Amino acid sequence: MDLAEIKDTLLIDFEAFLQKNLPSAPSFHPSYDKALKEMFEAGGKRFRPLMLLQIVESFQPLLVKNSHFIALAIEMIHTYSLIHDDLPTFDDANLRRGHPTLHVSYDEVTATLVGDALNTHSFLLIADAPFSSDIKIELIYELSLNSGANGMVLGQAIDCYFEDKVLTISELRFLHIHKTAKLIACSLKMGAIIVGLDKDKQNLLYEIGLNIGLLFQVQDDIIDATYTSYKAGKPTNNDNSKNSYTNLLGIDGAKKEKDRLILEVESQIDKLDIEVKKRLLSSIDRYFKG
Ligand code: IPE
Ligand code: IPE
Ligand code: MG
Ligand code: MG
Ligand code: MG
Repeated sequence: MDLAEIKDTLLIDFEAFLQKNLPSAPSFHPSYDKALKEMFEAGGKRFRPLMLLQIVESFQPLLVKNSHFIALAIEMIHTYSLIHDDLPTFDDANLRRGHPTLHVSYDEVTATLVGDALNTHSFLLIADAPFSSDIKIELIYELSLNSGANGMVLGQAIDCYFEDKVLTISELRFLHIHKTAKLIACSLKMGAIIVGLDKDKQNLLYEIGLNIGLLFQVQDDIIDATYTSYKAGKPTNNDNSKNSYTNLLGIDGAKKEKDRLILEVESQIDKLDIEVKKRLLSSIDRYFKG
């Protein structure tokens, strides 16, 4: 699904905020400032911002506007991870969000540095956000924990190191938990921190988020194996030497695992309060059953 199909007012408002608050660094460099913004302007599903904003809207709707800064910080980390993921030394992809990748439009140095800049800028956004210093420290802690050395980066390291070397299913699960699920889980948890839920409720949302993240990556693996690159907005059949659910279980096995995860996630969500349950179940329908 592309952003153009998304009618959710939460995401429409977030998108307006994002377009107005992209990093800007004018200088005499001919392309750096344009390249900083380009991958956001290209689109994307904004799934992680939606996860955070849905939690905030369910418990404290008046905090949604201020939370845009935090949702954008997470989208910025995610976008940096994609820019680096597409580099020739990683997945060597020439298309992202239906748009040529930065190393193709410009060069590898620009793409690498834009990724670096977005990574750092996301923490500046949180530091500047209209929340108390205590809340901001907790948000920075969660985002760096889940995206950094023991989070997404570890997942990417394992993903790339073990190309052409077959992992077990439990190792594959570890890989997907790190490269994808932790950032999605921490989006939900950061929403819970903003609205002041207690630690048990924060951790429950994090656990559900890990399963949503696994589901997300299983679906992404199925997209690689079954979509045209036009429909996916990125190269497909690109995972042939990767440890993906489709390579380890076959397409039918991966689809079964996706269905199993949907049921598991739905039963976990079913136990939540009515407002948050309604919103998360509708997102599961929209993103995973379409
Ligand atoms: C792609 O993420 C990379 C994964 C972690 C699977 P998305 O599917 O969220 O990419 P965009 O943001 O919509 O482009
Ligand atoms: C990338 O996973 C996950 C990241 C942390 C960026 P993939 O390599 O499967 O993502 P796509 O398929 O290129 O979007
Ligand atoms: Mg990759
Ligand atoms: Mg990739
Ligand atoms: Mg993929």
